[in-house]
Amino acid sequence: MQFESIKLLDETNSHRPGFYVRFKNVIVGFITLLATLTIFIKISQQHNSNTIIMELPVINTFETIKLDEYPNVNRLLFIGDVHGEYDTMTSLFEEMNYDSDTDMVILVGDFLTKGPDSLKVLDFLVDSIHKGNRNVRYVLGNNDIKVLVALINQDMENYSKESEFNPLNFNTEFNYVPKDPLKKIKQSHLKLANELGFKKLYELAKHSTVAFKIQRSNNDASHALFAVHAGLLPGNFINTTLNANDNELFIPSIDTLTEMKFVEQDNWSNTYKQLGMKDKKKKSNDIDATKKSLIKWYKLWDETKVEQTFNDNKKIQKNFDYDLLEFSEIINNITVVYGHDASSGLNIHNHTKGLDSGCTKGGQLSGLEFVWDPTNNKYIDTLYQVDCIKK
Ligand SMILES: *[C@@H]1O[C@H](CO)[C@@H](O)[C@H](O)[C@H]1NC(C)=O
Ligand SMILES: *[C@@H]1O[C@H](CO)[C@@H](O)[C@H](O)[C@H]1NC(C)=O
Ligand SMILES: *[C@@H]1O[C@H](CO)[C@@H](O)[C@H](O)[C@H]1NC(C)=O
Ligand SMILES: *[C@@H]1O[C@H](CO)[C@@H](O)[C@H](O)[C@H]1NC(C)=O
Ligand SMILES: *[C@@H]1O[C@H](CO)[C@@H](O)[C@H](O)[C@H]1NC(C)=O
Repeated sequence: MQFESIKLLDETNSHRPGFYVRFKNVIVGFITLLATLTIFIKISQQHNSNTIIMELPVINTFETIKLDEYPNVNRLLFIGDVHGEYDTMTSLFEEMNYDSDTDMVILVGDFLTKGPDSLKVLDFLVDSIHKGNRNVRYVLGNNDIKVLVALINQDMENYSKESEFNPLNFNTEFNYVPKDPLKKIKQSHLKLANELGFKKLYELAKHSTVAFKIQRSNNDASHALFAVHAGLLPGNFINTTLNANDNELFIPSIDTLTEMKFVEQDNWSNTYKQLGMKDKKKKSNDIDATKKSLIKWYKLWDETKVEQTFNDNKKIQKNFDYDLLEFSEIINNITVVYGHDASSGLNIHNHTKGLDSGCTKGGQLSGLEFVWDPTNNKYIDTLYQVDCIKK
């Protein structure tokens, strides 16, 4: 129904008026018909607004969760890339003795695609939204974003240029289309998008974020936990009152948050999802990356190398106003929980916790529990894993 109506509007636009010039009365008749049709569509739009508008809401890039607003929550459970493995996810919840009243769950992205039960995972998220349960949270991963982009590009199989893609809008970055969409957004993403349906994906997008900062209370920003799909650089989201144009270090791009694996060591403006291709047959956006000194972004959070990291970056970041002491405080007070990097597998360091242990490839699904220890004034984290069945 919705697609038919959209097509109708398109056809009226593409009519060639030259054909009608000699038939005045036909034109008049046509215009009358058109006007009637337009009014009819307008009315039906008003009466049934969500069946006709194939547009997703603007997505919030960043949200702060202040735990003092959740007095019942005493555990935070971060879950790695679920990828439609709903049954494995419920086994992991059992393993963790999940209690929806006292636990806050945070999926670190790529919960859709690949596995058999993306719809069940989506239902779990959307049902909790409908129940008003704010204890179930998720950040969008690159694959979840591709599903949303496919949804609003029903004709994508006929696109020949990247510019033909209808974009997603984030509140920090309008007109976002993932890199290389003609190749990277597949018919399987579109098929899945249509199986999941506009209504539920709209709800998902409406309550989405790309990064969470979870702090103990409104007044206590120490021991902050960040959840993001791909990664975060030291300094990201430290000052969110600035906008993206002021300093890209404070407000990272959607690509950085959802795709990054590597960063240029001496210019953090440049992040990459893969190393430059040694194999020339493989085409990649990141082709000139081979020339740069790239490191995995999580290595920037190594507290034993703070001074070197600071000096490497200080040389080029003229807007980076911190001194070494402030910089090491930033690193020491933050833990980043993420997924995305199945090739590194489970990847636990002091300040970065990589949870993508390759479930869809027959690895494990990983969950990391955080419980606040008031005696020692720090979080205690505990890892849980369940095996995934290779299909
Ligand atoms: C793509 O183009 C072909 C050939 O013109 C057409 O048959 C098909 O319906 C188009 N697909 C979509 C989704 O519009
Ligand atoms: C880091 O944590 C300490 C105490 O744990 C706190 O005094 C300080 O303000 C925090 N710094 C930042 C930048 O959050
Ligand atoms: C964030 O940036 C604004 C604008 O430069 C500044 O006024 C404010 O003090 C900064 N906040 C923090 C916490 O650094
Ligand atoms: C990790 O934390 C421990 C304990 O605080 C510390 O001794 C160690 O140096 C840290 N390691 C790294 C690589 O940051
Ligand atoms: C860092 O990279 C950005 C983007 O490629 C570029 O605009 C900027 O000039 C670079 N900074 C330095 C100091 O090379």
